[in-house]
Amino acid sequence: MKGIILAGGTGSRLAPLTKVTNKHLLPVYNEPMIYKVIHTLTNSGIKDISIVLGGESVGDFIRLLGDGSDFGAQFSYVYQQGAGGIAEALYLTRKIVQGCKVAVILGDNIFEDTFKEAVREFDESNTHDCHLFLKRVPDPERFGVAELDDDGNIINIEEKPANPKSDLCVTGLYFYNAEIFSIIEYVINKIGYSERGELEITDVNNYYIQNKNTRANIVDGFWSDAGTFKTLLRCTNFVNRSLNESK
Ligand code: DAU
Repeated sequence: MKGIILAGGTGSRLAPLTKVTNKHLLPVYNEPMIYKVIHTLTNSGIKDISIVLGGESVGDFIRLLGDGSDFGAQFSYVYQQGAGGIAEALYLTRKIVQGCKVAVILGDNIFEDTFKEAVREFDESNTHDCHLFLKRVPDPERFGVAELDDDGNIINIEEKPANPKSDLCVTGLYFYNAEIFSIIEYVINKIGYSERGELEITDVNNYYIQNKNTRANIVDGFWSDAGTFKTLLRCTNFVNRSLNESK
């Protein structure tokens, strides 16, 4: 199973912090944000990783991360022009990861948990085509929000709904089978870009939910995005607490 980190986009919610650098290079307590995301993949057993970059800090990323050997991993890089959405960024990796199952993670998503067992199960068994990871949050309207049936199966996702049907946010970690790129092509042709000008990962996930075997589970440990001032501080405080607790 290959890993994909999506670190494109503009980081406009963090301006002026992101005026001359990239959101994913900002510190989360003791490390650049993207280190935390790399650790989530490598600690889950994924070492072959493509990183989608955007903006003007590409040289900084490559100086910082290199070929991946500092992380015991192997990195390749893809460039996304503009900020056409998470599904668009993912589609750009198709030539590199074609034919493989993938674990995709958003570059601003900070997880306490690692996912070794989930990766092993998804990679080795063919029991399902897509695996999503959910978290209960107090502000679901900021996210993709999952709707579950009475048996706990995921039946739909709404992107940033004004009236959320649950408090279950769809986090930015997604496991897909090798059909992912033909499904994104379907979304490009049949649904297209959303009103906010993005190819939405929620449309891709809803295709999997409606047409393929999709599972979801709730993550146990801390999870937050780090893409706003408040959530960046929340992630920084979380790392501070966990490092000091382990001393
Ligand atoms: O954090 C989880 C949420 O992430 C999900 O619940 C939502 O369903 C999903 O749409 C996404 O929501 P946001 O609108 O908050 O995502 P944002 O635009 O902040 O982008 C998150 C990361 O995705 C960003 O750090 C880098 C990557 N990205 C984003 C865009 C728009 C790209 O690589 N390219 C892009 O064009």
